[in-house]
Amino acid sequence: MKNTVTSLQKQKDNHDKITMLTAYDYSTAKLIDEAGINTILVGDSLGMVMLGYEDTLSVTMEDMIHHTKAVKRGAKNAFIVADMPFMSYQTSVYDAVVNAGRLVKEGGAHAVKLEGGEKVCPHIEAIVKASIPVVAHLGLTPQSVNEFGGFRVQGKEKDKALELIKDAKRVEEAGACMVVLECVPAPLAQLITESLHIPTIGIGAGAGCDGQVLVYQDMLGMYDNVTPKFAKRFGEIGAAMKAAFTAYINETKEGSFPAKEHTFSIDETVLEECKKAIEEN
Ligand code: KIV
Repeated sequence: MKNTVTSLQKQKDNHDKITMLTAYDYSTAKLIDEAGINTILVGDSLGMVMLGYEDTLSVTMEDMIHHTKAVKRGAKNAFIVADMPFMSYQTSVYDAVVNAGRLVKEGGAHAVKLEGGEKVCPHIEAIVKASIPVVAHLGLTPQSVNEFGGFRVQGKEKDKALELIKDAKRVEEAGACMVVLECVPAPLAQLITESLHIPTIGIGAGAGCDGQVLVYQDMLGMYDNVTPKFAKRFGEIGAAMKAAFTAYINETKEGSFPAKEHTFSIDETVLEECKKAIEEN
């Protein structure tokens, strides 16, 4: 069944948890979609886990469109959300609408996600007016890493917690269809979830959110440059990949790969003709 803004809202209303994972390429998106995920986020985390940057700030619109197109080809039923990269919306409301439009029109996304609260509400309103669903992102917003001074939990102090509650209300009023809460104390995320009509998707924000999102490399043990506390390992695929790569290298070097079953045969008479032709040359 296709996931839509309406079906995701129904899931919140029916207390049916929403599942979201990141994906950045065709084959991973296909696997995640076939597993039955509700929504796939083409996150700008791709800058770190796919492209090897130390943060998300270098990611471009071209990067996002390229990866969103690949995910779109792999995912048949998931609701696809594409991140708006750093400086694709902060510059003006006009830029926000144009770039959101590109992610939908060229990338094939169903919705876009942008970071921030009250200060990006005019951008959210304008994008929604262009009939593009918007997912808001509050708490630890990685595009503000230099302002925060690192990847840190947000909303622990009273004024920051109250600001988060206000921002969540504002983005809902501006028309956001969901809100990601990243690295927020679990009881605060639960309060926010209960105070909103739209679904909250938590990452490091506890089980009280309406849904959860993880970066797939984190949950599979494929990226250890940063190991967030919330990133439960659901598999050891990084170790399995390394073991397989090592086996390939060893078997190739010792000549046991490829074996007969991995090769194609040729008629003996054709082979004899080939040998003759080589000798004659
Ligand atoms: O870019 C991303 O993957 C994200 C998630 C961490 C929510 O924004």
